[in-house]
Parts: sequence; C-alpha cells; structure tokens
Amino acid sequence: MVNTSDEWIFSRSGIRERRICGSDETNSDMAVAAARKALDMARLRPEDIELILVGTVTPDYRLPSNACIMQKKMGMFNAAAIDIAAACAAFINGLSIANAFIKSGQYKRVLVVGVEKLSSITDYTDRSTCVLFGDGAGAVVLEACDDDRGVLSTFLKSDGRYAELLWIPHGGSMNPVLAPDSDRRSVYLKMNGSEVFKHAVKMMGDASLKALAGAGLTGDDVTLMVPHQANIRIIEATAKRLRVPMERVFLNIAMYGNTSSASVPMAMDAALRAGRIKDGDIILMAAFGGGLTWASAVVRW
Ligand code: ACO
Repeated sequence: MVNTSDEWIFSRSGIRERRICGSDETNSDMAVAAARKALDMARLRPEDIELILVGTVTPDYRLPSNACIMQKKMGMFNAAAIDIAAACAAFINGLSIANAFIKSGQYKRVLVVGVEKLSSITDYTDRSTCVLFGDGAGAVVLEACDDDRGVLSTFLKSDGRYAELLWIPHGGSMNPVLAPDSDRRSVYLKMNGSEVFKHAVKMMGDASLKALAGAGLTGDDVTLMVPHQANIRIIEATAKRLRVPMERVFLNIAMYGNTSSASVPMAMDAALRAGRIKDGDIILMAAFGGGLTWASAVVRW
C-alpha cells in the first residue's frame, strides 16, 4: 500500500501485525462481543448493568452514542449510557468515572468498554499513520464490594493546547464532511508522530507516578504494568522511569498495533488469560492520546 518495510515499522514502533475488522462489522459489533464476554466472566446479566461507559473516537454514528447502540443490542435497559471522547486515554477515564460513581453509591455495577474501528479513520496512503493502527474492543465490569480490592487510585489530565498534534480536521460541525470543497482524506486521522512521541513519554510517566502516589505505592509495588500499546519505545522509557523491569510489563503491541481506547482493556484481558494477573496483584494502567489526554489507574486485582 505504502513505501515502508516491516523492519522500519517494527524497529520504530514494535508493531508486526494489526487486526482490521470486516467491512460488514461495526464498532458496536466488536463492543458487544467484548461486553458479552465480560458479563459472562462476571456472571451477570445485561439487566444488572446500571451504567454503560464507552470510550471511542470511532462510533457507529455521530448520534446516538455507541453506548446507546450497545444498550439496544444487548438489552441493558436498566442502564444510563454515555460515550467518552478521550482518545487512547478514554478507557482509563471510564474506569475512573465508574469508580467515582460506585464509591458515591449512585451505581453498583458499571460496564466500561474501550472500542475502536480505527480502520474507518485511517488514511491508507499515509505511511506515517497507517502502519500503526488496528481495530478491536475490550470491556470490564466494575461492581461495588466490601473488601480492599479494586481501583485504588486514578489520575486524569489533558492539555487542549496540543489538540492539532493528533486530530481529524473534518467531519465535525466546524467542517462538515459534505462541504462541496472538502477533501475526502481530511476525514482521516492526522498525527505529528514525533511531537506526540515526546509528550507521550513524559505523560505516561507523570500519570503513572501520580496514580501510584495516590495509592501510597511506588514502581517496586507494581506486579504488572499494562500500558497503552502505542509504541514499544514509549513503553520502555516509561517503565525505566518508574523502575519497573520489562518482565513486569505486559506487551501485545506486536500483534494488534495501536487500538486507541481498546488497547488497555484488550491487554488486560490477554494478560489475565495468559495467567499474568492473580488475586491481590497490583496492576498499573497508563495511557495517553489525542487531546492531548493522559490517564493512569492503580488496581488491586
Ligand atoms: N515507513 C518508512 N518510513 C517512514 C514511515 C514508514 N511507515 N513513516 C514515516 N517514515 C519516515 C518519515 O517520512 C521520516 O522521513 P524523513 O526524515 O525523510 O522526513 C522518517 O521516517 C522519520 O520519521 P519520524 O516521524 O521522525 O519517525 P519516528 O522515529 O518519530 O517514528 C512513529 C514514527 C513510530 C510514528 C513515532 O513518532 C510514534 O510512535 N509517535 C507516537 C505516536 C502515538 O503513539 N500516537 C498515540 C496516540 S494515537 C491516538 O490517540 C489515536
């Protein structure tokens, strides 16, 4: 498709493969598949869910939200439904919002989903972005409990001054996609990769340190770090700053590439299935993305 090589892509990003959903598959199809598995694992029924939070920048429609589409497809009719637009940090934003609602007593069971059909906003003639992104979905259920497990602390931050480092200039109300003079390629994601890279290294580390401090912990206490899978070099630099050895960092970037808000829950699921997460483990999640946004969470499993 573009003038590139596996060697260039792998050495710069750690990515070997990426998954692209079929033309008949939608964002909400993937989200529903992930959410059904999460509900099964939690032994809950769709009607048990009181709040649906969906992190995505690639919803099926501008209106209604993907959370409402999922509600309809799964019959979660006892729930409120909200989408979260925080790019790659959206899942951890969702986790933090769910945690706050549960701690306040307003909801007992919250479904948090990260899902992206990034292939729908990827310019496959732009080699600086198209080699990085993939499609996918992940989901978790959070439930109120009385013991000391669960979300210990979270940290969320954003800086809109850097909005144009990673954005989709057209397709919103500012520049509607159907404007007669609009270029089809302007509805695709644009990124200044090297600038985002510099911010990402700092943000992932800063966010992780804040969330760890909020829980009264340090990198030494982390059993497993589950970072946003955007670039292996960003992950390695962050782990080094936190003094978390790479053996305690979960990686699946080689197989999936950057799936934005789906990346952290997909990695959590893969880590769990690989036996890398056990009861009582301290899990550190961290992510950064367009906005710019960055977020981190510390969880006792
Ligand atoms: N194949 C070959 N050459 C390429 C490719 C490619 N696929 N892409 C870019 N190049 C070239 C560039 O044209 C440039 O050439 P030039 O020097 O002749 O102009 C050269 O490679 C170097 O480009 P850089 O952008 O400086 O390369 P860098 O080392 O920064 O790596 C990368 C690029 C992998 C994109 C890196 O910057 C990165 O990972 N950035 C962060 C991206 C990210 O994580 N975004 C996160 C959020 S995503 C979201 O929110 C949806």
